[in-house]
Amino acid sequence: MVNYIIKKSGKFLPSKEMKKIAWIKDKKIYKEAEKNPIKFWGKLAREGLKWEKPWKKTYEEKPPYFYWFKGGKLNFCVNVLDRHLDNPNKTALIWVPEPTNEKTIKLTYKELYDKVNRFANVLKKLGVKKGDVVAIYLPMIPEVLIAMLACTRIGAIHSVVFSAFSADALKIRLLDGKTKILIGADGYYRRGKKEDLKKKVDKAIIGTKVKKVIMVNRFNKNKNYSGKFVSFEKEIKKADLYCKPVIMNSEDPLFILYTSGTTGKPKGIVHDIGGYATYAYWTTKWSFNLHENDVLWCTADIGWITGHTYTFYGPLLNGSTSLIYEGTPDYPNYSRWWKIIDKNNIAVFYTAPTAIRMFMKAGEKFLRKHKLNTLKILGTVGEPIDKNAWEWYFKKIGKSRCPIIDTWWQTETGGTLINVLPGIGPFIPTVAGYSFPGTKHIVVDEKGKRVKEGKTGFLVQLSPYAPGMLHGIYKDNKKYKETYFKKFKNKYDTSDGAYIRDGLIRVTGRTDDVMKVAGHRISTAELEDAINKYKLVNESAVVPIPDKIKGQVPIAFVVLKSKSNLKIEILEKQIKQEVDKTLGPTSRIAKVYFVNDLPKTRSGKIMRRILKNVLNKEELKGLITLVNPNSVEAIKKIVENNK
Ligand code: WTA
Repeated sequence: MVNYIIKKSGKFLPSKEMKKIAWIKDKKIYKEAEKNPIKFWGKLAREGLKWEKPWKKTYEEKPPYFYWFKGGKLNFCVNVLDRHLDNPNKTALIWVPEPTNEKTIKLTYKELYDKVNRFANVLKKLGVKKGDVVAIYLPMIPEVLIAMLACTRIGAIHSVVFSAFSADALKIRLLDGKTKILIGADGYYRRGKKEDLKKKVDKAIIGTKVKKVIMVNRFNKNKNYSGKFVSFEKEIKKADLYCKPVIMNSEDPLFILYTSGTTGKPKGIVHDIGGYATYAYWTTKWSFNLHENDVLWCTADIGWITGHTYTFYGPLLNGSTSLIYEGTPDYPNYSRWWKIIDKNNIAVFYTAPTAIRMFMKAGEKFLRKHKLNTLKILGTVGEPIDKNAWEWYFKKIGKSRCPIIDTWWQTETGGTLINVLPGIGPFIPTVAGYSFPGTKHIVVDEKGKRVKEGKTGFLVQLSPYAPGMLHGIYKDNKKYKETYFKKFKNKYDTSDGAYIRDGLIRVTGRTDDVMKVAGHRISTAELEDAINKYKLVNESAVVPIPDKIKGQVPIAFVVLKSKSNLKIEILEKQIKQEVDKTLGPTSRIAKVYFVNDLPKTRSGKIMRRILKNVLNKEELKGLITLVNPNSVEAIKKIVENNK
């Protein structure tokens, strides 16, 4: 087995073998990029993509707005598919269905190209035009990629909604995008059971502008539909084989992806075409040292940004092969993922700390029969990785021979911004690394002043902003300015805490009311809104606490309208169900405490920080600012008595 790392003066660094295959092996690249980041990205955009017309200006900034490659023209789908057709039989996508008796399906670039062209024609026939928003509510099946790419071919903007989200969550997104076309599915397999998506689709479209729903049939390909519904399989068969790509402006929107902020309403993060494509291409290639013949498996669902950039777009823009798996990691048991890695010669494996911790708990016996010797690079994303999980991942999966690339980034940034490169290193547990070449981050205090080395503060990104950065919030300029560029006066506020030591950045977690539950991003406000929908609830406050597997889990403090005759356990169950119904099971409340009063400031602000201190048994500070300091003592008792 090839060893890709060596240990030198207590540090893990790339080995000779890694240097041999690494795209980037010299730190000079950082200096070169820093000297003139705009020129640097201009060169990469030209080299990495196929442009129909060159841009006039590489970068323009009118704070807080910025534009990359203005005047440049291209089509995203052409970059993903058409330009790789000189190697038509190369596998683009490997799909592993969950049922073990179903065969793995491989799609070549040509097969994918044909399907995308046909489906683009289906969308056109249904009236979809350049600039329209098309919603996609599909599980991890090949059709999700086909649908997304078909949108990009005709200049439509896709808005993918995580298939585990509830009907209500889908509806909010359909309404915000004024979406007329929805692509859904009858369902998918999860832990051996059939999950029904059609039921959620039916409920979600009521009261929206949706005129047509194209249904992918995972279970019954011959199913007939009527009314608003048409069958994906039947429409695609009837469609013409070629669809001319629509040539777009570089700064036209490519997709919207909703994410949680500090309010109850999710924000539609917009990404543009040229900047995003450039960034997805190069960060995939360099961060994971991806070569054309490598198979990459990023386990993120397409409902999240990691699914967009590193499950699909990054690897395919690079002309390599991406693998997707429909089901859960524990089906039929915890060796499923390792089997998939061995069977499909996975070279790059990218997952979240939550998954790693789950496997750690399951035990090593599930790893015993698996070689994992095709792996070259391991990646992690979504939340800070703790030392234990890092070491387990490094030893048990990477067999102490693969570097771990800890990538820090956000839905807003489009691609990874802070990580070490495989050919450079060093690979240090819990440390993300350096700003990606051509980008720059600093750590500041509350007032925006740079803090000393080693001191924790707020992580901000400096101009020129990375090409993958968001292109606004869908139809909400005010929120865009206020969320990202207000606190530190036209510098991008990441809302993460961090410190820098020896130039290496360690991210410590969110500084706002956003939490990461099993790597999924969710705001306390969204959870509270969902809880408050329950008829007996007067008000609530949600705070995260650390969890061994999921990283963080939400805990709710609830004040009821009046005393209820229902048992506490029943009430708790019903509140949890209410949250499931509104948001889906990914953000399930771990525990509900029923209290008489929530700690509040004179202006009525709920002090969640104090609740967090109570849960974590930390020192209680700032009680004087409360109108009801006695509430805290009462809450403390309730928490202690209800473990
Ligand atoms: C957190 C996911 C520590 C961070 C790509 C960020 C991380 C939020 C890391 C964005 C990492 C992501 N180390 N924290 N390697 N990666 N985060 O939008 O708090 O779902 O702000 O994007 O995840 O979550 P999002």
